[in-house]
Amino acid sequence: MNDLKTNNLPRHIAIIMDGNGRWAKHRGKPRLFGHRAGATSMKKIVIATAKMGIEYLTVYAFSTENWKRSTEEVSGLFKLIIQYVASELNELIDANVHINVIGDYKKLPDASVKALDKMIDKTKYNDGLKFNIAINYGGRDDITRAVNQIIREREINNLSFKTGKTEVTEDDISKHLYTGKMNFDIPDPDLLIRTSGEQRLSNFLIWQSSYSELIFTKTLWPDFDEEEYRSLIEAYSNRDRRYGGIKEEIK
Ligand code: FPP
Repeated sequence: MNDLKTNNLPRHIAIIMDGNGRWAKHRGKPRLFGHRAGATSMKKIVIATAKMGIEYLTVYAFSTENWKRSTEEVSGLFKLIIQYVASELNELIDANVHINVIGDYKKLPDASVKALDKMIDKTKYNDGLKFNIAINYGGRDDITRAVNQIIREREINNLSFKTGKTEVTEDDISKHLYTGKMNFDIPDPDLLIRTSGEQRLSNFLIWQSSYSELIFTKTLWPDFDEEEYRSLIEAYSNRDRRYGGIKEEIK
C-alpha cells in the first residue's frame, strides 16, 4: 500500500491549495476554470493520501477572507462544492474516506450546506483517511470562537467560582478549536504544504501549525500531482523535528 521510501510518514498533512487563479490566467480562462481544475487535483490528492495510509488530511478550500472576492467567483466556488459532492462522493465513500468540514460552513448558501452535510453523513462510518475540508475557516476566528466557548461554559457552569480556576490555559484553547477534543479531535499537522510559491500561512491553522514542518512549492495547485506529493512527503521524513528542544533530549 505504502511504497514510499520512508517509514516516517506524517500523521496529519495540511495543504493550502493555492494558484488556481494564476493557472487559469495562464490559459486565458476565467478563474473558475482554475478552481474546477483545482477540485480535480484535490480529489486525486485525497485518494493518494488514503492509499498511502496517512491518517489525516486537511485542505484550505475557502477562508473567512475569501468572501472579499467577486460575487461571481464566490458563488461559483459554492456551486463547485455542490458539483464536487455529486460527482466525487461515491469514489470517496469507496476509498473509505471519512469527511468533516472545519469552519463556519453553515453560513454558505443552503444548497451548498446541504451538499456538505450529505457528504459528512454518507462518510461518517468510514474508518480510513480523515479528510477535513476547511470552509469559511480562519485561524483567528477559530481561536476567538474557542475563547468565547470557554467563557460561555464557565458562565453556565460557574466553573471559575466552583474550582477557583480563573486562568485559561493553552490546553483549554486547544480543546475548543475545531480540531480540538471537544470537536473533531484532529492532531496538529506534522506537515503543511503550500503550492504556488507564496510563503505564508494566510490564517490557516495558525494555532495548530506552531510546530508543523512547512514546505512551499512553486507548482500551481491544479498541476500538483501524486509524484510531487510523494517527493514532498519524503523530504518531510528527512527533517529533524525538535519542537524547541534539542535532538538528544527528544530521544
Ligand atoms: C486558491 O487559489 C484557491 C482557493 C481559494 C480555492 C480552493 C478551492 C479548490 C481547490 C476547489 C475545490 C474545493 C471544493 C470543496 C470542491 P487562488 O484562487 O487564490 O489562486 P491565485 O492565487 O493564483 O489567484
